Amino acid sequence: MKQRLEQSTTALNALQKKRGEQFYPQFHLAAPAGWLNDPNGLVYHNGLYHAFYQHHPFSELWGPMHWGHATSKDMIHWQHQPIALAPGNEYDKSGCFSGSAVSHEGKLYLFYTGHNWLAEEGDDSQIYQAQCVAVSEDGIHFEKKGIILPPPQGYMHFRDPKVWFQEGKWWMVVGARDEKDQGQVLLFSNDTLFEEGKQWRSEYKVLGKTDDKNVYMWECPDFFPISDDNEFALVFSPQGKRAEGYQYRNLFQTGALIGQWSPKQPFIIHGHFTELDNGHDYYAPQSFVTADGRRVSMGWMDMWNSPMPSQQEFWAGCFTLPREINFDKRANRLRMTPIKEVESLRQTRNTIEMTTLNNQALKLLDKTPAIELNLTWSLDSQAEKFGLWLGKGLEVFVDNQSNRFVIRRHYPQYNISGSRSTPLPVGCEINLRIFIDRSSIEVFINHGELTFSSRYYADENDRDLSLFATDGSATLIAGEYWTLSTIS
Ligand code: FRU
Repeated sequence: MKQRLEQSTTALNALQKKRGEQFYPQFHLAAPAGWLNDPNGLVYHNGLYHAFYQHHPFSELWGPMHWGHATSKDMIHWQHQPIALAPGNEYDKSGCFSGSAVSHEGKLYLFYTGHNWLAEEGDDSQIYQAQCVAVSEDGIHFEKKGIILPPPQGYMHFRDPKVWFQEGKWWMVVGARDEKDQGQVLLFSNDTLFEEGKQWRSEYKVLGKTDDKNVYMWECPDFFPISDDNEFALVFSPQGKRAEGYQYRNLFQTGALIGQWSPKQPFIIHGHFTELDNGHDYYAPQSFVTADGRRVSMGWMDMWNSPMPSQQEFWAGCFTLPREINFDKRANRLRMTPIKEVESLRQTRNTIEMTTLNNQALKLLDKTPAIELNLTWSLDSQAEKFGLWLGKGLEVFVDNQSNRFVIRRHYPQYNISGSRSTPLPVGCEINLRIFIDRSSIEVFINHGELTFSSRYYADENDRDLSLFATDGSATLIAGEYWTLSTIS
């Protein structure tokens, strides 16, 4: 692997020299250059947070998957590390696909999918996927140990292992597609995490499966406790779901099923698949536990097969902010809020006085830098719509006609135009905590009741930020914002 790692590093360094800045994030983790997709192997290990990611260091396009790597003390400021895994062994010839990490007895274990095209490159109808392990003593250099779990009979798409320890055993969920092309998550267990030359037990259970005949694959499963009461969330990213009205508009989605599980009982699901985020760009999140016991998750902030204007700058893909996940038992759903450490990015605080806008716009900033905004609006308004404009291409607003919260992008020069929206939360007020980076916006509504993550692509000279209300008046009850510092 050493030689392949050296080649990838040389390619990455060359690409980084050409990498553009206009869209490159100031406070979100992205590869130094080249392509990034799923977060992989998020873990706290020997005093540091590690984030790995699906990475193609040779170009801004998806290609043979490597694992990029970064470390952090606070999950906000990241330091790039050497590429951790490069494909090319017999069992991962075509790529080191997604997976997870485990810190165990001082060593760092990566569980990933060895991917192999059996016919032509890119031909998904003939592949071999198996779960593999790589181990590190120093947390930086990894030794591949090969396959520890081949696919069960009848499964060809079998990927994205997430491993954890519970009640004396090691557990693994894997995303799968059964013989009838239906998405599933399979559950395996083993007494030991890894033993040289030994494989995991091949017995498995189907932890969950689709009830939507169009859904042919469940990718990137994550399964974790959300209460002290055997309540678990199964988070995964289904492929094939059709758009229904305002819902499931992204090519693929990510959501959760909530239920009851213990090693002795099947997963008993309460309620329906609920999307975790409602923006244009959110996929394949992975969670981990922090040093102080919080459940934190990061997702890929981009979407398969969507226009990615950052590619003109020789990079693509970034993570969302790390988000703390909590269970809202009454609503039977997960809530995500930015981890408290994001406050370390804040520079000077600016307040916006309470104000009523009557069919007008109030300019806050031009050439908007990276900022965090905290806005509370009254929902008692007759305006047609009110909210925020960023340049001519991005609107974030309450639509009083449809009674929905909307994020709308319009960048025809990149073939990007359209909106994502949800019904307006119930209440007299709405609180919006908004993070704006150079090409991304994340909106947390009412402390995580809803979240929207979207990429946007404003020209450098079209970055005015305004509050607005059209065709009537709307009241901003309280507002504040901070410019944010750069993480690298
Ligand atoms: C999800 C995914 C995974 C796979 C990886 C390949 O985005 O398709 O299922 O492991 O990306 O890069």
